[in-house]
Amino acid sequence: MEAKEKVILTGDRPTGRLHIGHYVGSLRRRVELQNSGLYDKIFIFEADAQALTDNIENPEKVRQNVIEVALDYLAAGLDPAKSTLFIQSQIPELCELSFYFMDLVSVSRLQRNPTVKTEIQMRGFGGESIPVGFFTYPISQAADITLFKATTVPVGEDQEPMLEQCREIVRRFNHIYGDTLVEPNILLPDNAACLRLPGTDGKAKMSKSLGNCIYLSDTADEVTKKVKGMYTDPTHLQVSDPGHLEGNTVFTYLDAFCQDAQVNAMFPEYETLQDMKDHYTRGGLGDMKCKKLLTSVLQDTLEPMRLRRAEFEKDIPAVYEILRKGCEKARETAVQTMDEVRRAMKINYFDDAALIAEQSARFTK
Ligand code: TRP
Repeated sequence: MEAKEKVILTGDRPTGRLHIGHYVGSLRRRVELQNSGLYDKIFIFEADAQALTDNIENPEKVRQNVIEVALDYLAAGLDPAKSTLFIQSQIPELCELSFYFMDLVSVSRLQRNPTVKTEIQMRGFGGESIPVGFFTYPISQAADITLFKATTVPVGEDQEPMLEQCREIVRRFNHIYGDTLVEPNILLPDNAACLRLPGTDGKAKMSKSLGNCIYLSDTADEVTKKVKGMYTDPTHLQVSDPGHLEGNTVFTYLDAFCQDAQVNAMFPEYETLQDMKDHYTRGGLGDMKCKKLLTSVLQDTLEPMRLRRAEFEKDIPAVYEILRKGCEKARETAVQTMDEVRRAMKINYFDDAALIAEQSARFTK
């Protein structure tokens, strides 16, 4: 049997600039996957249509962030020569496939999707006030994935229910219409600290509204200042006090970003990050010193991104052109999959010579 193509697909809602949580949670891995050479095709897209499902009255926000996220992608090292970067709304085949998928999913199944369920609870009224577009976005997300025959979807754990629902749709489709679509696998981040990076204030999640994010596009000064103000261990009042690592944001970030060699280069008295942690828990190691290391480690990661971003910012029309070309390329695959879908669903009337011959024989008998 012919080996199946290995296809990566993933995306982000363009509702804000990307921060270091996005970087350790997904972006860093995508760049590694891209450069591994192990995949036949890589699709990375901006889910602007999905972003609009809960920013209905805020189209300008989505529009502004499409270019911000594109710059973040390019700055992080996604390479348009290796990865197809595109924008969801520019692929009309996604609407077409979603429309057919709607026949394969029940209202009660959507109501059981944890993401949709939370939203319904938040809005009250038993969910009647939820926009249909939001309600059905797990279906359109299944179209995002299957239209490109993705085999591997690198996303955070919060997307697990979406992937499960997608696999169900694929199984149902293939069962009814014959083997056409591909069941995707989720690829979760591999480092526990990366699953969800807390905000600089120690709150569970980085979010723009809480003002606790470090953005990929922050200047060196902004990063230094944010690290200085970071949440550590509130019981660690004096340097000599024993410190706690649990819930200590500085150490969570160090786990996500820092290599032992970087610890040793700055503080030769430690071989590894673990040595430094041991010192901290014993007492005698101040927060300032830990923050100094973290600042340096973050700058090492972010500085090359700043430089790349600055280059791309000089020619914004060229960035739009990268996206436009990406959309064109993505559509080549989209059109092909839709041909197969229409054939499987028996709605390919005009390119089926056998059908026309058969019908004409029936009527001219
Ligand atoms: N729902 C994803 C998020 O909020 C974005 C997304 C849309 C996506 N379609 C996708 C991710 C398809 C992976 C595959 O981050």
